[in-house]
Amino acid sequence: EKPQERLPITSCEQIDLSDWDFWARPMAEREHAFELLRERDTPMFFAEPEVSYAPPGQGYHAIVRHADILAISRASEVFSSAAGGATNINDMPPEFTEYFGSMINMDDPRHARLRRIVSRAFTPKMIQKFEEDVQVAASTVVDELLEKGPGCDFVSEVAARLPLKIICDMMGIPEKDYRFVYDRSNIVLGASDSEYVPNADMESIATALLTAGAELQQLVQELAAERAEKPTGDLISALVNANLDGERLTLQELGSFFILLVVAGNETTRNAISHGLLLLTANPGQKQLWLSDIDGHAPKAVEEIVRLASPVNYMRRKVTRDITVNGVDYREGDKAVMFYWSANRDAAVFDDPYRFDITRDPNPHVGFGGPGPHFCLGAHLARREITVMFRELLTRVPAIEAGRPKRLFSSFINGVKHMPCEF
Ligand code: HEM
Repeated sequence: EKPQERLPITSCEQIDLSDWDFWARPMAEREHAFELLRERDTPMFFAEPEVSYAPPGQGYHAIVRHADILAISRASEVFSSAAGGATNINDMPPEFTEYFGSMINMDDPRHARLRRIVSRAFTPKMIQKFEEDVQVAASTVVDELLEKGPGCDFVSEVAARLPLKIICDMMGIPEKDYRFVYDRSNIVLGASDSEYVPNADMESIATALLTAGAELQQLVQELAAERAEKPTGDLISALVNANLDGERLTLQELGSFFILLVVAGNETTRNAISHGLLLLTANPGQKQLWLSDIDGHAPKAVEEIVRLASPVNYMRRKVTRDITVNGVDYREGDKAVMFYWSANRDAAVFDDPYRFDITRDPNPHVGFGGPGPHFCLGAHLARREITVMFRELLTRVPAIEAGRPKRLFSSFINGVKHMPCEF
């Protein structure tokens, strides 16, 4: 957070989502700003950026209401991921596409064809098969936590470990490379934070991203060369041997697919687990309630954690033809940023939206994205991981509490970098 004094936000005119200073404001001020934005009749539009790698908002309609996010996500043939980038990759220099231009930045039918290569591995049935692996990995994390006790950095020693191990196992990444993947993921999703990229100017961020991309690309190429000779049933083998209308994935496509899966598969769930402990610590009554029936409350509690955590703050789209959605006109070429975090606090849908209620039902949050072709591929896996992690923690370390978190400085990821815990 920046030291200088700021005026409190009392009107939308004071809000500039394209300014990093906005994202440095305390959480309560940002919450209030999004409340004001949700109260407007039409989404607020922010000016076109002069530079790339800018935070969201510049040149965008800020889509902050739940109903608008649902409608825009459903109209995916007009609100394009290929033209406007789920992330801002499409606005970046071409070499970025080489590493980060994956299916998340594509439209159907190409997107659907690529997604099909791996989607079977993420169905509830397949995830069920992983249940034991997830359980064993979670109990190992808690065994080690108890051995070390009575406190640690919850993020690196608990929250990060389960999702990292599971996605690396699914991909076929050997254990010696877990740390490498973890560090590179932090750069890919946390480049705006000076802990990961010390000089947060555009050039340093670009260099750090490209270096991390190149290093991950190299890892996948080594693994892919082995799998091409001897497939092993992991996801890298599936990608190497995928047949898309008679064609193989190019090395570049393989690399960016790999980067998408390993980054999306570890960072987001890590943040959900960290936020989960924070929410339980701040709401001891809800923790007691969950403890009274750990398995019974888990499904709704996990959805509630994802709603309030909203680990992915937003995704972007570009309008490919004029369209009116919920009474608002969007013109061809306009961009839209869908703020999931804001929609998940929309009082029009969620009663008492800031309350952490592990029995909330219904809970139609958009933490995993809106309904449409890009809905999170890993949602079932993430839910299993969060469920099993909290089952282990609540059963074996029920006294565990979070200390003060160090949050990631980012407009894109609602991340927790470090967080002491005690038990
Ligand atoms: C897509 C959030 C866990 C893989 C998405 C999207 C969101 C999201 C919001 C929508 C992208 C869009 O609309 O453009 C989350 C959250 C997670 C999580 C909050 C954890 C709590 C995972 C995991 C994986 C994963 C464990 C495992 C590989 C993906 C992939 C996509 C995606 C591959 C792109 C899907 C596509 O473009 O078709 N995720 N995710 N996510 N997620 Fe997740």
